[in-house]
Amino acid sequence: MKRPYRVGALGAGLVAAALLAAGCGTGGVASAGRQADTQSGQQLFTQNCGSCHSLQAAGTSGTIGPNLDNAFAAAVADGYPQSSIENVVLDQIRLGSGEIATYTNGKLGDFKVQPTMPANIVKGEDAIDVAAYVASVAGQGGFTEGGGFASLGTDGAKIFKGAGCAGCHTLSAAGATGTVGRNLDQLKPATDVVAHQVEVGGGAMPAFKGKLSDAQIQAVAKYVSSSAGK
Ligand code: HEC
Ligand code: HEC
Repeated sequence: MKRPYRVGALGAGLVAAALLAAGCGTGGVASAGRQADTQSGQQLFTQNCGSCHSLQAAGTSGTIGPNLDNAFAAAVADGYPQSSIENVVLDQIRLGSGEIATYTNGKLGDFKVQPTMPANIVKGEDAIDVAAYVASVAGQGGFTEGGGFASLGTDGAKIFKGAGCAGCHTLSAAGATGTVGRNLDQLKPATDVVAHQVEVGGGAMPAFKGKLSDAQIQAVAKYVSSSAGK
């Protein structure tokens, strides 16, 4: 059997980034009116979305749909405002993913091989609460295990946020206030010290060799050593 291909195949995760870049989303509708209740949003997410989606903060591990941390990590690292992410999530909830046309054996057909997401699983204020909750947590800790580190490129500042360094370390230049690892502003480590630490990890810090490329490790090391204490 030949594997079918999706028309206009955007990798999962790139979809969200593409929508954000195109300025799509319901533009402020999500946040208009009452304050979203992210606590209720978390509960609703676990009940209605978690079976299909992994989201670290909610502790869900569904694999039918894309991992939502990985879907939004690059957007978070790029500094997209939470309100834009909220609107993308809200649109996804309202529209679902519909029928997916695919090519099989060179012919266009509309086989539903790819799992789809039903529209309006949650509605009205519930949908807004879920969207606000997802936007407040998705990708905040960077990519989760197996995520798309490659898409962070070789911009040290972007790697620092996208690879999760910011969640554990304080570095003012990156707006990072993590307290699990050392305060990098105080430590002011040299480039090779950072590069070595990132490669091998240690203590509570994961090793990044094999996840980040050598060029990415050098880039984030240079970024940390040149911006620490500034
Ligand atoms: C039955 C499984 C299923 C359920 C339940 C489900 N989803 Fe999905 N979701 C999917 C699939 C499959 C996709 C990918 C669709 C595609 O590739 O077009 C998706 C895509 C998404 C995306 C886009 C991610 C990206 O990479 O751009 C978001 C955001 C999302 N879902 C949020 C939610 C939320 C919030 C809920 C709960 C209200 C939910 N989903 C419930 C299966 C599900
Ligand atoms: C899960 C939390 C966590 C993450 C993620 C993390 N670190 Fe760490 N980091 C730590 C801890 C804890 C230590 C102290 C480890 C030790 O000394 O045993 C540390 C130590 C360091 C040190 C000090 C090395 C030394 O010689 O004292 C540097 C530099 C560093 N990390 C940079 C980074 C960079 C850059 C990233 C991202 C690529 C990163 N860390 C990701 C927790 C983390």
